[in-house]
Amino acid sequence: MNIGAIRGTAGALTLTALLTTGCGTVTASPDVQDPTPAAMPGARASTATAFASERSEVSGGATASSAGGLAVSAVKVVKVAARARPVDCRRAKCVALTFDDGPGAYTDALLRHLAAYRAKATFFVVGQNVAANPGIVRRTYAAGHEIGSHTWSHPDLTKLPAAGVRAQLARTDRVVKAAIGVVPRLVRPPYGAVNAAVSRLTGRPMVLWSVDTLDWRHRDSAKVVRKAVRSVRPGSVILFHDIHPSTVRAMPRILKALSKRGYRCVTVTRLFNGHPPKTVYSAGLT
Ligand code: NI
Repeated sequence: MNIGAIRGTAGALTLTALLTTGCGTVTASPDVQDPTPAAMPGARASTATAFASERSEVSGGATASSAGGLAVSAVKVVKVAARARPVDCRRAKCVALTFDDGPGAYTDALLRHLAAYRAKATFFVVGQNVAANPGIVRRTYAAGHEIGSHTWSHPDLTKLPAAGVRAQLARTDRVVKAAIGVVPRLVRPPYGAVNAAVSRLTGRPMVLWSVDTLDWRHRDSAKVVRKAVRSVRPGSVILFHDIHPSTVRAMPRILKALSKRGYRCVTVTRLFNGHPPKTVYSAGLT
């Protein structure tokens, strides 16, 4: 909807290409960030960077292609782009793709697929994997995705004493902060195992899911695609695991199908317009 407004106001074809967003269409400039301010408050260098990239591309194009009048309309275009609002998931058809258990050997390939479709996602990382691969987490965050905690070593938190739960979260917070400068605002409990004590000790939204692709079990790309695409509804939180190559290979087909159906792929925090509830089982936002 922003796109229409922008087109109408500025009439600039360049911008149409730049601002096609969501799980949107593949365009010639996959590096330009979705103007959606990403999830976590305080998160964004990258929002500013996103607008900066648009600005430079739009003005660059105008300068290169000519003179006076066009330069003026390029300025208008830049202003409109800078005002572009984040996706409002109360109105748009949003879906949150979530990836657990990484980062791993296939995460970078996944980032490329997401970038090609201008999709944003949430990565629930395992602390000890972050310690081994902090650079991947940095790249993930810099690309505008959300980083959540999936504990340090993936235990069932409901079976740990309070001190154990605290340690699992604190260690992960430390390595994530060392990698990206902020601690995760969201936690996904391993196995979806949560009780009142764990929820209290965590003190952050516990993010479960509404669609489970079971990708870890069957390791079959076609099944991952089928499950994700058939089960998706506006407001879905879909569970994947980016440590499996079969899942990462399935993503272009999933992104294409979601895009065709008009879905915007957003972070979990954006799905809730910046305010995830205490426990997120799924969504079904209206
Ligand atoms: Ni897990």
